[in-house]
Amino acid sequence: MVTSVAPRVESLSSSGIQSIPKEYVRTQEELTSITNIFEEEKKAEGPQVPTIDLKDIDSEDKLVREKSREELKEAAVEWGVMHLVNHGIDDDLLERVKKAGEAFFNLPLEEKEKYANDQESGKIAGYGSKLANNASGQLEWEDYFFHLIFPEDKRDMSIWPKSPSDYIKATSEYAKLLRGLATKILSILSLGLGLDEGRLEKEVGGMEELLLQMKINYYPKCPQPELALGVEAHTDVSALTFILHNMVPGLQLFYQGKWVTAKCVPNSIIMHVGDTIEILSNGKYKSILHRGLVNKEKVRISWAVFCEPPKEKIILKPLPEVVSEAEPAIFPPRTFAQHIQHKLFRKTQDALVSK
Ligand SMILES: [Fe+2]
Repeated sequence: MVTSVAPRVESLSSSGIQSIPKEYVRTQEELTSITNIFEEEKKAEGPQVPTIDLKDIDSEDKLVREKSREELKEAAVEWGVMHLVNHGIDDDLLERVKKAGEAFFNLPLEEKEKYANDQESGKIAGYGSKLANNASGQLEWEDYFFHLIFPEDKRDMSIWPKSPSDYIKATSEYAKLLRGLATKILSILSLGLGLDEGRLEKEVGGMEELLLQMKINYYPKCPQPELALGVEAHTDVSALTFILHNMVPGLQLFYQGKWVTAKCVPNSIIMHVGDTIEILSNGKYKSILHRGLVNKEKVRISWAVFCEPPKEKIILKPLPEVVSEAEPAIFPPRTFAQHIQHKLFRKTQDALVSK
């Protein structure tokens, strides 16, 4: 066995251990804010992630339409994350996507290992667990399945799960509809900046180049959830991210200096504005810091689709129309790949400083 293979969190979870390996125990600073996610989700007070209803987004009535679009824009300015309802993607299809992903993770471990990725050789698509990316060896309490789902001609069907049988059909259909939703959202965000409606879509690569990458996150039950994180605090590098989940809470957003727990809203799709749109809009739209908590009672699964610009082809920088003398560019020009590299570098620096 190759030593660099990350342990599957699923096997750790089912092994019956009562305390988690030290690599999964978070830093002292993080531990102070990790609490019981079920208790957190029940709390009614404090700020809440906005819910945006898309049913009037294309209303014939100009006033109704503009009010609806303004709400979405405001949520992107204020939070950079929202629950989308009446998004136009059929509930039945969402259920099929979730059922298929769940069925894949319910396969025996040795079946899933046939799809294992190989991160060290750069093959990141497939079944995997996070490798430590800094000297502290810190790990996250999750396994995942990662692959590109759109555009169709860029997919590698050889790594798509063959079981369950509906996986390919349901996921492909979902990808196509989500791509349409991304165009819609990008057009509203463009208009919100005073740009032509197709502008942001074009700036992130358009139909040919914007890549939709799906990551199914599988968070097994954790014997010491107060010590671990499913996903550590980060902002998404994407243009937009769309998330489904199995109605088990876990997502927290860092809003006004506090961790806010996202409620589970039936049939909604959670949408994040990622760093890419934050950069293009010169910070007018926010890419919010977020993380995932785990629990000891229920397995949590989420389906995140990252809509990403091409790695090298586009230089991301604040658009000239949103920059002025009063509001100079707050982000330097970088390709998407350079942006990711820069974040990793900063993280490594931070880890060294805090040691
Ligand atoms: Fe994220």
